[in-house]
Amino acid sequence: MTGETNIINALHGKKIVLGIGGGIAAYKSAELARLLVKTGADVHVVMTEAGERFVGRATFQALSGNPVCTSLWDEQANKGMAHITLGRADAILVAPATANLIARLAHGMADDLLSTLCLARDCPLLIAPAMNRQMWSHPATRRNVATLEGDGVSVLGPDTGEQACGEIGEGRMLEPGILCAALIDAFAPKPLAGRKVVITAGPTFEAIDPVRGLTNPSSGRMGYAIAAACARAGADVVLVSGPVALPTPPRVRKVGVTSALSMREAVFGALPAEVFVAVAAVADYRPATVAAHKIKKSGEAMKLELIPNPDILAEVAALENAPFCVGFAAESHDLDAYAESKRRDKRLPMVVGNLVADGLGGGDNTVVIYDDAGRHPLPRAPKGAIADWIVDHLARLLPRD
Ligand code: C5P
Repeated sequence: MTGETNIINALHGKKIVLGIGGGIAAYKSAELARLLVKTGADVHVVMTEAGERFVGRATFQALSGNPVCTSLWDEQANKGMAHITLGRADAILVAPATANLIARLAHGMADDLLSTLCLARDCPLLIAPAMNRQMWSHPATRRNVATLEGDGVSVLGPDTGEQACGEIGEGRMLEPGILCAALIDAFAPKPLAGRKVVITAGPTFEAIDPVRGLTNPSSGRMGYAIAAACARAGADVVLVSGPVALPTPPRVRKVGVTSALSMREAVFGALPAEVFVAVAAVADYRPATVAAHKIKKSGEAMKLELIPNPDILAEVAALENAPFCVGFAAESHDLDAYAESKRRDKRLPMVVGNLVADGLGGGDNTVVIYDDAGRHPLPRAPKGAIADWIVDHLARLLPRD
């Protein structure tokens, strides 16, 4: 599986309880247990009685390397105090969390080992719901999930797609790799907690007529990676995105736009914020007029008059109460000179520069950060890792409250 190297030892020294509810998605939790062991965590599996009907405890025992607990009344396990000793973990992840288990947790019930240790815990609780789409959308489940969220429980997913019952909809458990990454994120430092960040990403599309327009090959991946990294760092994130084919990262509010003018309007609508990161490849020009009907070919040369678009970043940076502004400079050559002049001209505390050949549209990037202290080259890496470094860097430069 790709990306597994990222998780190795990420939770070293942590004690994690993996709770298994009675849903068919329990078979995926065997893979989740394997991934959690790879993080270096000490993994303890607790199954409900219904959970045991889907996957045998021997599977989880072999994968976790620890005895599997199922009953409050097992005198051997933890001297009959399993609900207390297991509750003193660093985190409890319940996956799958069925509608019934969610209802019991929401009401503080303690009628089996898993629900009792969740009630007796002194650590974060994360749940990964898994159920039929009707059960998920039922008002009772909506209420119970809202109660748990209000109690500070992290609800991961669910996903949308094909269900075991053959129906299609919301209620699938998130994939094990995503759950494992979410658990790792839960332990990550939160240097942007309490800060609002507005980010632009992707290309803009400047219409010529109803079926044609001017655009560029920006994939949006760098901007989306920055949005995901800011959310991981605890920020309240608004992502103003041009047309791209990317899923919205968890805990990010996306505002979809097309033209530079609509991007500008959405950005100003999302302000004020503490941070503005302009990653979008905004078209510098747009057609002076947009034809109301499809332009027919005539065989003759065609003239297109282009007028300049507003520079969104420069306008935001010039505001009286400007957020901390980060610009991107994608250049074909002379990166240092152009990036520094962009930083000066737009009065930006921080610019991230890259050569177009290194980054535009691809999965990896090579960037240099420019700030008042000079240039800081980062090693070539996937855009997700680069995004984390950029966010760490900007968080360190932010004025303290
Ligand atoms: O001046 P240049 O277009 O090279 O500057 C690039 C930076 O400015 C990027 O951060 C980009 O998102 C932002 N920008 C903008 N509005 C524009 C043009 C660029 O926000 N119209």
